[in-house]
Amino acid sequence: MPETITRSNISGQIATLTLDMPDKGANILSSHVLNELEEHLDNLKNDRDVKGLIISSGKPGTFIAGADLREFVASLDADRADIVDLCRRGRLLFARLHELPFVTVAAIDGICVGGGAELAIACDRRIVSDSSSTQFGFPEVKLGLFPGWGGTVWTPRIVGLYNAVEMITGGESVDAGQAVTMGLATESVSPEKLLDAAVHMIKQENESGSFLKDRERWARPITMSETELGFLGVTAAGFIEQQTKGHYPAPLAALEVLIGGSSLDPQAAGELESEEMANLFGSPVNRALLNVFFLTDRNKKQTAAYQSATTIESVGVIGAGVMGQGIASANIRRQIPTVINDAADDALQRGIQSVLEQASYNRDLKGPDVEQTIALAPLLSPALETEEMKHCDLVIEAAVERADVKKTIFSNLEEIVSSTAVLATNTSTIPIDELASSLSYPERFLGIHFFNPVRKMPLVEIIRGTKTSDDAIATAFAYAKKIKKSPILVRSGPGFLVNRLLLPYMSEAVELLLEGVEPRAVDRVATRFGMPMGPIRLYDVVGLDVAAYAGKTMVAAFPDRVLQSPLVEDLVAAGRLGQKAGHGFYHYRNKKRRAESDAALNPFIDKHKKGVRDLRAEEIQDRLMLPMLLEATRVLDEQIVENARDVDLGLILGIGFPPFRGGLLFWADTVGAGEILKKLERYQGLGPRYEPTERLVQLAETGSKFYD
Ligand code: NAI
Repeated sequence: MPETITRSNISGQIATLTLDMPDKGANILSSHVLNELEEHLDNLKNDRDVKGLIISSGKPGTFIAGADLREFVASLDADRADIVDLCRRGRLLFARLHELPFVTVAAIDGICVGGGAELAIACDRRIVSDSSSTQFGFPEVKLGLFPGWGGTVWTPRIVGLYNAVEMITGGESVDAGQAVTMGLATESVSPEKLLDAAVHMIKQENESGSFLKDRERWARPITMSETELGFLGVTAAGFIEQQTKGHYPAPLAALEVLIGGSSLDPQAAGELESEEMANLFGSPVNRALLNVFFLTDRNKKQTAAYQSATTIESVGVIGAGVMGQGIASANIRRQIPTVINDAADDALQRGIQSVLEQASYNRDLKGPDVEQTIALAPLLSPALETEEMKHCDLVIEAAVERADVKKTIFSNLEEIVSSTAVLATNTSTIPIDELASSLSYPERFLGIHFFNPVRKMPLVEIIRGTKTSDDAIATAFAYAKKIKKSPILVRSGPGFLVNRLLLPYMSEAVELLLEGVEPRAVDRVATRFGMPMGPIRLYDVVGLDVAAYAGKTMVAAFPDRVLQSPLVEDLVAAGRLGQKAGHGFYHYRNKKRRAESDAALNPFIDKHKKGVRDLRAEEIQDRLMLPMLLEATRVLDEQIVENARDVDLGLILGIGFPPFRGGLLFWADTVGAGEILKKLERYQGLGPRYEPTERLVQLAETGSKFYD
């Protein structure tokens, strides 16, 4: 196997180990690379001439991007003892860096995360490049794990327990400046000066011998009073529980290991780390989160593979309402000049203001950053006439949801834009082919369907009409990538992917109300399952009028199984449109506009009530999830998306389907097709929407899974 680590010398006495994985964009710590490292450390240990070691990367912008996750996946079913050994092996190997008879320095330029960060933290010193690509972090909790190669042992000893708890349980990386501030790195220099700085540091350390004193200090338990430890434990655990809502065990486990290990020597703390790691490795949440990692990775690779002939230099947005504003602000945030138009002058004026506010939103300020607003303003041009979009490479229409209005807009645009420009609609329900039917050049037309709120939702559905060209699709992918969204390719069909799957889930929630379940009880089951909000609350957020409209499209397309509840229509007619109207299923007449139960809803429910049944939480969960799952099997049959992975990524990124479940179909695989069929049998009396699909029956019969 070709080598990743090369040893060379600087000025005779300083050894360097440079990682440069052949044929890969990033260095990954595979078992092969660890073997290589072991061999180098064996040789270095006995080399009397060496006075210092520098570990660096031959890949600018990436130090080490972590461990080889495919090897992790291959070991998911390994015995507990093997997992402990796997962890121990990496930890003891890295610990040998502390035992070398000379100082060791990691020279870090770019990404240094996961196992890479553990290797770096096991060195005596770290110097980081001041490049914006430098990131140091332990993202393992995002995979349902924590650093298991000594990261929980050395990090608190080097940066202090408070910092280590924040970094390891939060999983967020720090940049070069933050790394220096917290003592993770000794200094930050330009990438070109990194090696010189490391050489200089080795000379200094050899003179002062301070690394030896640190080694002695790190070899002891961390000194912290019981009270302080207790306080840290309680506050950090409280924060973690609030963030994870009990769904993600890794951060709390990491906290326990960090606190438990702090009073032990490194060897014992390391053993604790390995033992606890074995509890998480291969757990359902670990498997699900690994799946999400691979889904995202696949999406990035697919997106990168599209080669577009058109470069997006400027974008037109038609309609300055909720969605038009979100889309325009996503553009200017990524420095894409944007022309925006609206049929109503006042809407355009309000829209411009809001686009700038959204684009310059600063999380720390919890509002717009004025300097940023001023900087971005020149990128946004209000257009009173669509004529002003003639130079745009892409025009996205986000006007009202009416086919006639949209058709007029596109006929007009065809006359104006250049022959290479791509035209896109953000429609949520109208089939792409219907809108394309009146166009002279339907091949350059497609759907780019954003999700609300655009700033927060990473998904865009790129919807291919029958006549859409590959070029237009490639341009849409390139555009999505430019504005940092995750695009998935979807074939046109009612509700496309996400709304088609969301609707059965939401309609069923309303059915449950008519069977006597309280709105809060329905929502509680959904949020306990891990959904970011319950379906009833989601109605209020989306707007009952909008949901009712989308529902009609679905009923028209699938009258045999889609429910159109008269309850929603009654509420719309009564002006109970949801949060925007101050009331819908809940009311929002309080200072913080929080959803509160509303007795005024009862007469509306009573009018259509089908009885009062005492439903258990499990039944409510089945009722919500199974219709969505069945619809997903139909989506696969109709090849609306390529495969199960698109369904799962779409739902995770589009509606916040809980990542710790791995995705709807991944979750279904963990339940098993046979078990799902059994559950469905219980609900047959409710009508065709619970009828098992052939795909599901086949999976059950053959004992197969959605993920092959
Ligand atoms: P909105 O009602 O907030 O904004 C629509 C804007 O289009 C209004 O300002 C209106 O004055 C303007 N408009 C109407 N006719 C026009 C014309 N001929 N030329 C230029 N402007 C015109 O609507 P919203 O929510 O922004 O929706 C826009 C589109 O995005 C719809 O097709 C909708 O289905 C779709 N969509 C909406 C989502 C949502 O959650 N609101 C999510 C995804 C898609």
